[in-house]
Amino acid sequence: MAIDLADPDLYASTGGLAELRFLQQRHPVYWNGLREGGGFWALTRYADALKVYRSPRAFTSEQGIQVGQISTDRLPAAGKMLVLSDRGEHRRIKAIVSRHLTPGGLHELLPEVRRAAREAIDEFVDSEPFDFVTEIASRLTMTALGGLLGIASADLRSVARWTETAFGSTTGPDVGVVSPSEVMTANTQLFVYFAGVLAQRKKAPRPDLLSALANSRSTSGEQLSDEEILFNVHLLLAGGHESTRQALTGCAVAFSEHPDQWQRLRNDPSLVETAIDEILRWSAPSLNVMRTATEDLEINDTLIKKGQRVTIWNPIVNRDESVFPQAHTFDVGRQPNRHLTFGAGSHFCLGAWLAQQELRILIEELALRASRLEVTGSARRSRSNRTWGFDYLPTRLLRYEGGHDAK
Ligand code: HEM
Repeated sequence: MAIDLADPDLYASTGGLAELRFLQQRHPVYWNGLREGGGFWALTRYADALKVYRSPRAFTSEQGIQVGQISTDRLPAAGKMLVLSDRGEHRRIKAIVSRHLTPGGLHELLPEVRRAAREAIDEFVDSEPFDFVTEIASRLTMTALGGLLGIASADLRSVARWTETAFGSTTGPDVGVVSPSEVMTANTQLFVYFAGVLAQRKKAPRPDLLSALANSRSTSGEQLSDEEILFNVHLLLAGGHESTRQALTGCAVAFSEHPDQWQRLRNDPSLVETAIDEILRWSAPSLNVMRTATEDLEINDTLIKKGQRVTIWNPIVNRDESVFPQAHTFDVGRQPNRHLTFGAGSHFCLGAWLAQQELRILIEELALRASRLEVTGSARRSRSNRTWGFDYLPTRLLRYEGGHDAK
């Protein structure tokens, strides 16, 4: 039977890595037909992925950047949301948004994230199994986003829940499928909520990103419209909550499956730098990145026609043996580690530094407090063809005796 990479059940059941590996070995440029007609090319080799990222003129992002957006022709956010923009529009929006996402500015968020990490880990270490996704990963990402966007702490849970629903995730042990109308409602709730905050910030600016965007001007003197600000806030929630939460969850999964690597890291804390990248390579939360060809071109001897969709599958591109020796081994000391988890080229992730710092904080605080991480019972993989990860991860943290004293 033909492999259908667009089928979310593939990832919910097994994670889909075996199918992706098969394609990488046998059909590196694979035409994935869709039941409803049409289809997309699936690239599973690193060199082919780089070719797409390095040929921005041959592709557009305006018709969607992930398989989940495939049936839509013209997206309402095209040319307004950074990641769904090309060339001139992309440069214009990036000039404004990127100014507020530099390490210098983001640094201020980190003490609060560290405090939240300590609090959450202290609460759950040696406790009954708890859901790592909700209790630790989400708490950390929402603490960072709360500070970045100026979300009131009383609203953090609601914003997290709307964001998750907007991306089709369900949290907790019960299996549920988010309906298209629930997705639409959650998107509306997010827009209404942030439109309200934006209106307040225009009247009374505060030291947060929404205030900055509302009053920001690019070098050419242009300003983002309210609609553009709201679309880009949506993008920050996607990266800052949905993707980063899965990278943090991936940390627990990886160390639960590789306790030897956890011991190695705890014995040698200087490995934290390489460990961060290895978790990012391994967890690859953005399952795929998509482009639409604007001209005919060849990839790996296959003709891609103008108008066709091309997709890059990050979990397997990050496990390409020709670039990563022993690619299917999780190695916290791996170096070099040129994973494509954050993409490449002009759309390279603007939140990469922040996501890396959140991972660093999680690893450091866990290493001080937990001698082992164990995923117990049945974890539930996300039923999503966009985010690769887990909706529910029952976990135990075993105390590291002396951890608190060491601080
Ligand atoms: C581990 C966590 C994250 C992952 C895996 C991730 C992944 C990605 C990927 C693959 C892209 C490129 C998409 C493309 O080429 O079409 C991207 C772009 C972007 N990400 Fe992230 N991201 C993460 C965290 C964040 C965070 C924390 C933020 C901000 C709070 C963020 C904000 C953005 C923005 C603004 C872009 C658009 C850049 C552009 O189009 O120029 N991301 N991200």
